[in-house]
Amino acid sequence: MKTIHLPDGTEIPAVGQGTWYLGEDRSKRTSETQTLRWGVENGLTLIDTAEMYGDGASEELVGHAIEPLDRSKLFLVSKVYPWNAGRRNIFDSCQDSLDRLGTDYLDLYLLHWRGSVPLSETVACMEELKAQGKIRRWGVSNFDLSDMQELLRLKHGENCAVVQDLYHLGSRGVEFDLLPFLHRQGIPLMAYSPLAQAGRLRQKLLSSAAIQTVAENHSITPIQVLLAFVLAQDGVFAIPRASRVSHVQANREAADIVLSAEELALLNEAFPAPNRKVPLDMI
Ligand SMILES: NC(=O)c1ccc[n+]([C@@H]2O[C@H](COP(=O)([O-])OP(=O)(O)OC[C@H]3O[C@@H](n4cnc5c(N)ncnc54)[C@H](OP(=O)(O)O)[C@@H]3O)[C@@H](O)[C@H]2O)c1
Repeated sequence: MKTIHLPDGTEIPAVGQGTWYLGEDRSKRTSETQTLRWGVENGLTLIDTAEMYGDGASEELVGHAIEPLDRSKLFLVSKVYPWNAGRRNIFDSCQDSLDRLGTDYLDLYLLHWRGSVPLSETVACMEELKAQGKIRRWGVSNFDLSDMQELLRLKHGENCAVVQDLYHLGSRGVEFDLLPFLHRQGIPLMAYSPLAQAGRLRQKLLSSAAIQTVAENHSITPIQVLLAFVLAQDGVFAIPRASRVSHVQANREAADIVLSAEELALLNEAFPAPNRKVPLDMI
């Protein structure tokens, strides 16, 4: 599988597992646990969660799923609410996430989105969490170019390891200026909603003739094309969410699909990247 190098040299798989909405319905616990474990055992060792998801229920599900697994082989990501991302709350928030996950460190801790806590305070706290061994590294989410420029001017801002933003074939705004900037800084982009939420985020995406043609070329589904497209971009990795084994299997398969230059051109023509600045897309 394609891998991504973090700024500190750590190599991680380019496809991980998202968990938004997972853990919220107790009756799905067995199948969701099986899905996450199947993913990990087949190389999708990065799991993305957040204190927000199900008010901690998603972190608890992940904790349950990974209990019998080798922690050292996992890459666990969680996120702090913006209003908890200051000196008053972040240390308790992080500990609560660790407790729910049943682990003593996070591989990556993200500021979920920007709020009113000064960025400099969040960065200083993130660095303290690192020094305490509670997190290995930190990053940000839902940040646009101007946010990143501001962040990188702060003390220790250059330690930002990852930016997690919305990115899929039907929403390519980050390609205009943010992605090239991150490239120059050596910071990878973790694409969230890479499947456009199974097409729901953009009308008629999955029925497009271009996507259908590419899917037929490789005998895969249109959704697998969406994942292959995101992974074809330099410095991009993705965290599709699946709640059933058949879907995580399909996502694992898509990680090995290489789109040809002609296929990428076809997709570009049908869903061009904007040639001007557009507001950062987020959900
Ligand atoms: N930082 C942020 O603000 C932010 C925002 C949104 C999301 N995220 C993260 O990114 C993750 C992914 O984004 P997302 O959950 O919004 O959407 P997504 O991954 O784009 O799409 C998830 C949907 O796709 C379906 N699916 C998954 N694999 C499939 C396959 N191979 N074939 C057909 N359908 C498939 C899932 O169905 P089933 O559930 O039935 O398998 C689910 O309905 C989240 O779970 C979360 O961890 C972060």
